[in-house]
Amino acid sequence: MSLKNSEIILATQNKDKIREIRKILGYHFKIVTLKNFPEIIEDGKTLEENAIKKAKTIFKITKITSIADDSGLEVDFLDGKPGVYSARFAGKNCKYEDNNKKLLKLLKDVHYKKRKAKFTTVVAIVFEDGSIKTTSGSVYGYITTEPKGNNGFGYDPIFYYPKLKKTFAQLTTQQKNKISHRAIAFKKAKKLLEAEIRD
Ligand code: IMP
Repeated sequence: MSLKNSEIILATQNKDKIREIRKILGYHFKIVTLKNFPEIIEDGKTLEENAIKKAKTIFKITKITSIADDSGLEVDFLDGKPGVYSARFAGKNCKYEDNNKKLLKLLKDVHYKKRKAKFTTVVAIVFEDGSIKTTSGSVYGYITTEPKGNNGFGYDPIFYYPKLKKTFAQLTTQQKNKISHRAIAFKKAKKLLEAEIRD
């Protein structure tokens, strides 16, 4: 196995994600994206299934080492919900605020100690020989009782990170990118990719 010209393709169209992942992976790799991105229905029961499905779909088209990620928020009190359904928790085509409102309503009057939650990202890599590897990263916090902060996206305003005593939406992009679930998972993926290059 080798990474031809260290070229890898990211199975995403999300420009924010591409920028963030480029920063984490550094400059060893020539990172490319697809112009005509196919529709991929994320119908897996786990983050892993979805990440693998996305990476495999892009690999079939390009035959270049393909990387995809899938993330979600798991809340203890809700037995791990919204989890793999994080993006559409409040319904199809819902906005981030709708998801946050729904979550806060479900946790109304629930004590701080029972509001534990974690963000998880799973990264799937399909290498040039078709072999698949996955990595994951999680970050732990609590769901607040009201949104705070204007940065970030998704559930960031209601995800309180005790180590920094702030919600993710109160962190700068640089601060979040140092500690986030996505950063942890992609740093592990970077190690796997670097190992391939050395072979
Ligand atoms: P994706 O798989 O990365 O697109 O994430 C699915 C959904 O999880 C997003 O639509 C967000 O609602 C939520 N999510 C994932 N990562 C984050 C994050 O870093 N902050 C806040 N919400 C996130």
